[in-house]
Amino acid sequence: MSSSSSNVPNEVELHPEIDLDHVPRHVAIIMDGNGRWAVDRGLERNAGHREGIESVREIIRACRDYGVEALTLYAFSIENWNRPKDEVSELMRLLEEYLETELAEVMEHEAQVRSIGRLDRLPPSTRRAVEHAVAETKNNQGMKLVFALSYGGRTEIVDAARRLARDAELGKIDPEGIDEKGFAAYLYAADLPDPDLLIRTGAEQRVSNFLLWQIAYAELHLSEKMWPEFRRAEFESALVDYQRRERRFGLTSDQVRDGEGADS
Ligand code: IPE
Ligand code: IPE
Ligand code: MG
Repeated sequence: MSSSSSNVPNEVELHPEIDLDHVPRHVAIIMDGNGRWAVDRGLERNAGHREGIESVREIIRACRDYGVEALTLYAFSIENWNRPKDEVSELMRLLEEYLETELAEVMEHEAQVRSIGRLDRLPPSTRRAVEHAVAETKNNQGMKLVFALSYGGRTEIVDAARRLARDAELGKIDPEGIDEKGFAAYLYAADLPDPDLLIRTGAEQRVSNFLLWQIAYAELHLSEKMWPEFRRAEFESALVDYQRRERRFGLTSDQVRDGEGADS
């Protein structure tokens, strides 16, 4: 048994085509299509958000089973604040409820909850629920489970630039010495590897201000499924799709096959 499969619970049947030694370390997901899923069924949009939570549960379990190290879920964008008030408050309420009810399972997974985004804009009780989940799980050694909340990729870069400028002003860093690695250290979850795989559900082909810096070389998997329909089987298809790709990082196929550039 390979080392990456050692934590897989016995009862789970894994997809035979997925190579456990080449699972993406970091998967990021734009969970889109809740509203359309509901409206297509004659339901109110919020029913789609509620159903979407079941997908979140299932995908977290699947990530644990396949040994994904980090999962970043785009749950609420900075632009989503402009949605109708009642939808925003229902999303905040659901998030709070989710964090409270799922904490036990998250602990069982030994997952470490994190958040990225401008949390100061969240309603106080939602913010407290996020901070509580983060604090309770901070010593867990399993998967990093990152919720992007009130998150914008451009905002993240601006926030990084502000902190960088402050440190330059204080003389802690030399502007001439700033390189990509040094800049990236100022991003929200700087210790995580860049996403290897970016999934977007909801039949759209855009990144909607998600992890703009970090997805430079992510493989994209665009799913026609609405988020509430995106379950374990769809996630496994995304992994199979990912494993068929050749990641070249600007090199030629020959170079990749010869193992060049592995560390650059
Ligand atoms: C994604 O589903 C959830 C959030 C953005 C919070 P949407 O609510 O965007 O659903 P559609 O795209 O309108 O169907
Ligand atoms: C992206 O979905 C944000 C989240 C999934 C949280 P949106 O529904 O907000 O994206 P656009 O507006 O279609 O680009
Ligand atoms: Mg949408």
